[in-house]
Amino acid sequence: MSEKAALDFLNANHERFLEELKEFLRIPSVSTTEEHKADVQAAAEWVAANLRKIGAKNVQIFPTKRHPVVYGEIAAAKSAPTVLVYGHYDVQPPDPEEKWETPPFEPSIRGERLYARGASDMKGQVMASLKAAEAVANSGSPVNIKFIIEGEEEIGSPDLAPFIAEHKELLVADVCLNPDAGMLAPDLPTITYGLRGLAYFELYVYGPTHDLHSGVYGGVVHNPAQAIAELIAGMHDKDGRITLPGFYDKVLPLSEEERAALADLPFDPEKFYLEQTGVPKLWGEPEYTPIERTGARPTLEINGLYSGYIGKGAKTVIPSYAMAKISCRLVPKQDPAEVAEQLRAYLEANAPDTIRWELKVMDGAPASIVNLDQPAVKALAKAMEQTWGRGPVYRREGGSIPVVGQMQEILGLESVLTGFGLPDSLIHAPNENLHLPTWRKGMEALVRFFYRFAEG
Ligand code: BES
Ligand code: MN
Repeated sequence: MSEKAALDFLNANHERFLEELKEFLRIPSVSTTEEHKADVQAAAEWVAANLRKIGAKNVQIFPTKRHPVVYGEIAAAKSAPTVLVYGHYDVQPPDPEEKWETPPFEPSIRGERLYARGASDMKGQVMASLKAAEAVANSGSPVNIKFIIEGEEEIGSPDLAPFIAEHKELLVADVCLNPDAGMLAPDLPTITYGLRGLAYFELYVYGPTHDLHSGVYGGVVHNPAQAIAELIAGMHDKDGRITLPGFYDKVLPLSEEERAALADLPFDPEKFYLEQTGVPKLWGEPEYTPIERTGARPTLEINGLYSGYIGKGAKTVIPSYAMAKISCRLVPKQDPAEVAEQLRAYLEANAPDTIRWELKVMDGAPASIVNLDQPAVKALAKAMEQTWGRGPVYRREGGSIPVVGQMQEILGLESVLTGFGLPDSLIHAPNENLHLPTWRKGMEALVRFFYRFAEG
């Protein structure tokens, strides 16, 4: 068992790892629509094959109602602790495709970055974990490593909770390593301790039975596009607070202690968000800082809007319906099902009687907070310090990863959350990319993590 040999192995095989990552990225494993079902399956098989290649045993592909879960394990001595590594091989849709400089499923390197859908979220992180495991396995792993790699994270992991409940024995571990979060900057290794939850909806507003000539009927029917805009506009007050009845009832106040810790991050959040987004000015609840607003406050967002004629040129029409995709990021204690009722109550109180409406509730997940006072966090912090020359910053992230709460609830298993994507890795957006030098350091950090965790 030699840490040095494992780190040397990473160096000696780096080019091959990069080629393997590109191969993985060429599979368009978009989980959202039926269209890519076969590709999602192909990605599962690719992961299983890679697990076998790195010497994993008991490799299995478990079908679920939608997309399969891939499992495999690398054994060390019986007395060694066990790390369960979580990952997902599904990706977000590449839309809008015309905004990509190179096609989303043809990985391409420009400068220090590899561009492809899933590069940072999270095929790159899955590969970093697999390759770190391969490196330690090659010289006799100091820890038992189990992999659970799913294909439904980007749709809210709807079939993962039942899978976990049915395979409690298989998943027994001392900690779950989850590299699906990110880091703040290439020189700031990051451990995430909080994630927001999600409640997701489609709101349909129906007007006339068919599209109407806007000259012939304009002035007598309430245009559904206008009606949905009015409803949406009322969901926030002028300070950015959400108006759904009861929405903040369970939201916990931030302690002064945590506010101080969050204010202490080694960078300027105002500047950071302006730079990352290109907006002329930030927006949101004035009494909270941007870090608090993205990490520890709930939100309501419009993720998509559809109505009427959206092709080129003019078409004079009153559309028969309008639709909005709406999601709320939730903080601990908020329940996605209760938020659905709050949205319904808002609509009942505010929808005009000139239209009909329908709310579709989609899969969501509660927020999660992970315990920072656990050996795996100390081990990862040490590994990061040895890799970057400085210890990690600890932060709450605004994104959601349903498995973290599912494992706490079903297995009583804590996670340690990290990742090697950067704020400008453009996850869920066109030109998603992976900063390769950071990816390489991430692999090293994971190798060191396995050794530090084994030392206890
Ligand atoms: N990797 C992200 C979550 C994330 C993003 C964590 C940024 C930390 C920082 C994950 O793949 C993701 O996008 N999840 C979805 C989950 C949802 C569909 C339940 C999300 O947050 O939108
Ligand atoms: Mn992800």
